Amino acid sequence: MDFKTLIAKRRSIRKFEPQTVPQEVVDRLVEATLTAPSSRNSHSTHLMVIDNPELIARMAEMRDYGSSFMKNAPLAILVMGDPSVTDKWLVNASISATMLQLACVDEGLGSCWVHVDGSLCFKDDPEGPKADEFLRKLLPIPEGMNILCAMAIGYTTFTPADLPVWDKATHIHRL
Ligand SMILES: Cc1cc2nc3c(=O)[nH]c(=O)nc-3n(C[C@H](O)[C@H](O)[C@H](O)COP(=O)(O)O)c2cc1C
Repeated sequence: MDFKTLIAKRRSIRKFEPQTVPQEVVDRLVEATLTAPSSRNSHSTHLMVIDNPELIARMAEMRDYGSSFMKNAPLAILVMGDPSVTDKWLVNASISATMLQLACVDEGLGSCWVHVDGSLCFKDDPEGPKADEFLRKLLPIPEGMNILCAMAIGYTTFTPADLPVWDKATHIHRL
């Protein structure tokens, strides 16, 4: 797929077919994700692949807003970063997550980012638990690892509505 088509086709997909993602496709996704550049080549990004439907359904409960749709995803990939190797783990992980979303498009898969880092479980309870703590009770997150997001992934027949048109020119500051 050429680059222009790839970026045009990348949209957040929140509706998935139940069809499982074959292991060789998962392998290519993680391989592509880990080619992302990293500060000082620190390779701080780590991934966790979750394809157990019950576990994914539990992950979908991490927040009371913006995560429930992932219960129907056949695949979730947790994007994490190791802060012990670089203070740029968050930036590195964000680039990796973007790479993962583009790799999904290339494989004919839909995906949507479910944010974890700093996100509350309950949006109206700022002093309450965080999505990160919720996931640590559910999954064997390696000691010291930070979690950026969970990527919900699956095949889809859904075509998202066009996004509102916005004036990109106002975001370009020319000299
Ligand atoms: C940092 C970041 C966090 C996001 N978190 C969520 C989320 O928690 N839940 C969700 O449904 N979508 C989430 N999204 C998806 C955005 O809502 C989506 O990218 C945006 O509305 C633009 O739509 P598009 O991806 O189809 O272009 C996130 C995207 C980014 C980049």
